[in-house]
Amino acid sequence: MDNRPIGVFDSGFGGLTVARALIDLLPHEDLVYVGDTGRYPYGSRPLEEVACFAREIAHYLIHDHRVKMIVVACNTASAAALDLLRSELEVPVVGVIDPGLRAAVRASRSGTVGVIGTVGTMSSGAYQRTAESIRWQGELHCAACPGFVEFVERGELDSDQVHVLAERLLAPLVSAKVDTLLLGCTHYPFLARTIADVMGRDVVLVSSADETAFEVRSILASTGLGRRSQATGQHRFLSSGDCRWFEEVGRRLFGEDLGQVEPVSWGAGNCLGSEMDLGTGPSLGDS
Ligand code: DGL
Repeated sequence: MDNRPIGVFDSGFGGLTVARALIDLLPHEDLVYVGDTGRYPYGSRPLEEVACFAREIAHYLIHDHRVKMIVVACNTASAAALDLLRSELEVPVVGVIDPGLRAAVRASRSGTVGVIGTVGTMSSGAYQRTAESIRWQGELHCAACPGFVEFVERGELDSDQVHVLAERLLAPLVSAKVDTLLLGCTHYPFLARTIADVMGRDVVLVSSADETAFEVRSILASTGLGRRSQATGQHRFLSSGDCRWFEEVGRRLFGEDLGQVEPVSWGAGNCLGSEMDLGTGPSLGDS
């Protein structure tokens, strides 16, 4: 039994979908959430830079909050840094790509699955690699959705503009006749209504949040890291950007129990130094 909190992070609000699922499934666990809104979006950045951010946040959660586990509640950061974090951290590290794809594959009747995400996640090839690693034989259609994250971060979830953008970006997946669409960015569940309207009522939308929470629960059980206390867990939310704005938008997305948001800051330019050759990263365009 281990009473330390679980650390969760994302570039901003998207990981709140995973935090919600974790809190609902594991109400006794303490949780510390970092939304890196000061450096959002991740999806348009070189993967090396995102890996550096992820590493910095994970080390911060371990050293300053003594977390017992890290949940990378961001597909872009999972694509960029999951292996790295697993190799250098002593606590279990859970990403969202593997649990999400497994859930989508299970949900599909036809074996034709779509996945949408940021340009960074899609260009990393992480979903194709995961499909190979689980020896899935179906058809995977991937599409990047630049612009979706920005709508969520502004709290604009079902405007005409987001609808028009969704129609354009999702058209190839509608044509491919996918029967299941995996929301491969933790921000996208907040746009589910718009996405569902465009995809049509026969397409099942899958988010990685619940499946990730199940994976966390099973790791806690198998490692004996679950919290002993039966009291309701404490949940702390930190933002590297404007905390008041995080509180305002975060409450609209997550609910009133978001609580007070605390500031967190990083050493200036740590991830922009000469050790990281950002010029060699993939050219990723918009998020
Ligand atoms: N929520 C993130 C993801 O799942 C990234 C959004 C962004 O910062 O571009 O990929």
